[in-house]
Amino acid sequence: MTPDITAEFVWSRIPKRGRESNKGSFGAVLAVAGSACYRGAAALTVEGALRTGAGIVTLASVEPVMAAVAARLPECCLCPCEPGAEGGISPQSIPRILRQKATVLLIGPGLGYLAQSSARAAETRTLVKKLLTGFSGSAVLDADGLNAAASLMNGGEELPRPAKELILTPHPGEMSRLTGLSVEAVQADREGIARRYAAQWNAVVVLKGARTVVAGPDERVCVNPTGNPGLARGGSGDVLAGMTSALLACGLPAYDAAACAVWLHGAAADRAAARRGEYGMLPQDIFPQLGRMFA
Ligand code: APR
Ligand code: MG
Repeated sequence: MTPDITAEFVWSRIPKRGRESNKGSFGAVLAVAGSACYRGAAALTVEGALRTGAGIVTLASVEPVMAAVAARLPECCLCPCEPGAEGGISPQSIPRILRQKATVLLIGPGLGYLAQSSARAAETRTLVKKLLTGFSGSAVLDADGLNAAASLMNGGEELPRPAKELILTPHPGEMSRLTGLSVEAVQADREGIARRYAAQWNAVVVLKGARTVVAGPDERVCVNPTGNPGLARGGSGDVLAGMTSALLACGLPAYDAAACAVWLHGAAADRAAARRGEYGMLPQDIFPQLGRMFA
């Protein structure tokens, strides 16, 4: 039987912050996220990374997103980007040095791929390809980063691989686009499908939803028992992607980073639900509860 992720597993893997440590000890996350209509996705994903221990978090995005994030999160470094011809993020406006300094690239939350034109979709595909090509660290692909990856792979192109590890965090709809299977087929064999594609893509696959499945390219698989239907609202996934990238940046292997992030995200959400109910809680209510758990 597939094991559940346990509290013991998680707390044994979160590294202690050594007395002599500095921000460089906990990695640098470069988040490429957000668009005019999805400013909150960038804010939530960046806060997820900051609240889960990353040493430095930088957001690359277009101007209206910058203003929203700067007002809310003074700890976040900003890389304001020129909009491309279709209004997305122009890859040329992300300085090479930022990509060289990043240990983890987080691509996708709120890029606004599906809601836009096919020209905008092509622009996002180019962005994802350029960011990943030759990247020396690890990467987390979520949301529209996954939709762009699906479109690349369905068009017969290979998804460029980062030098280190790759984590994909699809919900069942995104997994359906990535694999060409129906959502029903994905849901009928969540563990089998996550495991099969993790091996095929040489990546850690986090198949989200109630009882999220984490599968490694080495056939390891586990299931998350934490979380509740209060998470079933826009923004929860953006928080998880940020948390996952932070644990990778802190040095956890990708499988452990993914499993710990989904467990912590769900456990903090369970505490938030106890306070505000599954109806009243918000994704941002995860943060104070996460802090209490770390404390
Ligand atoms: N029980 C436990 N966890 C749940 C439940 C549930 N019933 N429902 C959702 N979750 C968790 C998932 O496991 C995941 O971690 O909440 C998170 C939801 O993530 P996403 O589905 O990615 O949602 P999010 O990105 O926040 O919402 C915007 O809407 O139109 C789509 O694709 C678009 O990704 C975009 C999303
Ligand atoms: Mg999502």
